[in-house]
Amino acid sequence: MIVYAASLMYLVSVGLLLDLVHKVRRVQRILVGLYDLTQEESARLFRQMEALQGLYIELGFTKSLPCTRGWAASPDFLMELARHALAEKPKVVVECSSGASTLILAKCMQKNGAGKVYSLEHDPKYAQETRAQLERHGLSEYADVLYAPLNSFTAGQDTWQWYVHDVLPPLAEIDMIAIDGPPKDTGKLARYPAGPALFPRLAPFGAVFLDDSKREDERAILQRWKEEFPQLVETHRDCEKGCAVLRLSAQR
Ligand SMILES: C[S@@+](CC[C@H](N)C(=O)[O-])C[C@H]1O[C@@H](n2cnc3c(N)ncnc32)[C@H](O)[C@@H]1O
Repeated sequence: MIVYAASLMYLVSVGLLLDLVHKVRRVQRILVGLYDLTQEESARLFRQMEALQGLYIELGFTKSLPCTRGWAASPDFLMELARHALAEKPKVVVECSSGASTLILAKCMQKNGAGKVYSLEHDPKYAQETRAQLERHGLSEYADVLYAPLNSFTAGQDTWQWYVHDVLPPLAEIDMIAIDGPPKDTGKLARYPAGPALFPRLAPFGAVFLDDSKREDERAILQRWKEEFPQLVETHRDCEKGCAVLRLSAQR
């Protein structure tokens, strides 16, 4: 009887010990996962800080930029816009959705000594906010924020919500397009209409920058554009939310 009880206690103790070891190993795995996540997150944030600092220094901002987290374009995407605008000196830039990107592009136009940004904005509150920021930075002459409510836009069999088309002045050709709107929650493939609405007006060697290209919707939009605009060459830049660049060769 005593031997039986001792064996039983021994087995229970071994069982408890094994259970404890199993739990400790689970906690250890969770902690290692959290450590890796923290490392990745701090590397990601550090990269954004470097890009933001680069924007302030290279573009010479003397006043603070609006928020570049959450809804806004990330600093690494803004840096891609700035590098292209400074290198290629586009004269006509059309932007879908206003904000920090409008200030960055307008600052590039100022540094280039020429060029104008036409920023389509569907929300009157943010249109006004971006205009106020442009004024605060002394950049109003380089960018027009055009209040453009979303309206039905039909292409093929489908209908989207897209910026009313007649707010843009009759531009001869567009050298650069930055697409960061309308927001995703305005509909499926919300930014697709930028293709049929704006790409036919691209100048030779014109470039299109699409933010958030890592998202499923944006990947589907790119696939559709690839089929409909085969003359555009697609490349990608390593940005946290994804940045696709479509470039027109000389001929449209
Ligand atoms: C992706 S955001 C635009 C980002 C802009 N291109 C920038 O660089 O900041 C798209 C739209 O969200 C709206 N928006 C901007 N800031 C917002 C905020 N803090 N909360 C909700 N909507 C916002 C504006 O109407 C804007 O057109």
